[in-house]
Amino acid sequence: MSNPGSFPYIRGRRLRQNENIRRMAAEHHLNKADFIVPLFVMEGKNEKVEIPSMPGYYRYTLDLLIREVEEIVLLGLPSVLLFAKVPDNKKDNEGTEALNPKGLMQESVRAIKKEFPELGVMTDVALDPYSSYGHDGIVRNGEIINDESVDLLAKMAVSHAEAGADFVAPSDMMDGRIGSMRNALELEGFQNTGIMSYSAKYASVFYGPFRDALDSAPGFGDKKTYQMDPSNVIEAVREAKLDEQEGADIIMVKPGLPYLDVVRAVKQAVSVPVSVYNVSGEYAMIKAAAEKGWLDEKQAMAEALIAFKRAGADLIATYFAKDMARLL
Ligand code: PBG
Repeated sequence: MSNPGSFPYIRGRRLRQNENIRRMAAEHHLNKADFIVPLFVMEGKNEKVEIPSMPGYYRYTLDLLIREVEEIVLLGLPSVLLFAKVPDNKKDNEGTEALNPKGLMQESVRAIKKEFPELGVMTDVALDPYSSYGHDGIVRNGEIINDESVDLLAKMAVSHAEAGADFVAPSDMMDGRIGSMRNALELEGFQNTGIMSYSAKYASVFYGPFRDALDSAPGFGDKKTYQMDPSNVIEAVREAKLDEQEGADIIMVKPGLPYLDVVRAVKQAVSVPVSVYNVSGEYAMIKAAAEKGWLDEKQAMAEALIAFKRAGADLIATYFAKDMARLL
């Protein structure tokens, strides 16, 4: 007889016998409440444009965006993350348009909160869509300068809060921005406006399709002097802890799938919810393979999304949110 405590007394396959037993043994589950839906808004009326490198994903004018948001609400999804596409003639080095109280982002927040006051509305805070250089901060002599950019980003956060944003989501990776934003929000009376910080945002090629969506690719150079080096993980923990101390309410890791180890490390280091951004390039890869008939899209999506939960993510920003919600 073999030794109790090993095969055949112990058989892992007992827990995999059928769908119900596998469900009982599942360590992680996806919930609609996990998802943050990124949305692209553009100027104009009654128009939606498919993003070529993101099949099935669109930029909407505000009137149509509201209908899209309605669908999101009806599906039971709790939050959206807004990105505005800014026409070239409104871009400059200081991102002046970003502070326009009647700007597209501000109007979008107002319109969405008016129709759906309970929906969690998050806004992207970064200069790149507004910058003539396509960088996340102000450019001087070919450099992206930190402190002046931070002052501007803090004003941008206040402007979004004034419009009614529940959370501002700084994606710029300037140093000290969370503290400055928290200060500015408190001073202006926005105690309840939260900050979801892109704390560990890597200089990644997987943002390519997103930059097509917003026409926001850097005009010169790359973003490596502010976004993180893909080889680093200890540095991600440092950034995350700093942001937590500076007052971030949610800490994000971005991109997602190639950085699951970072999600785990950050989750273990902080005491606030951790979100992960399943970015545009990750979406595009699955879509492209599915279009070619090389992968089953729905299964690939579900497997990728549960991997985020397994890694420790509490929230997932994903272009698959609606599709996944329909399966849940
Ligand atoms: C820019 C920003 C980017 C994304 C979100 N905010 C791109 C970048 O840093 O160049 C990428 C999102 C995605 O790829 O889905 N501040």
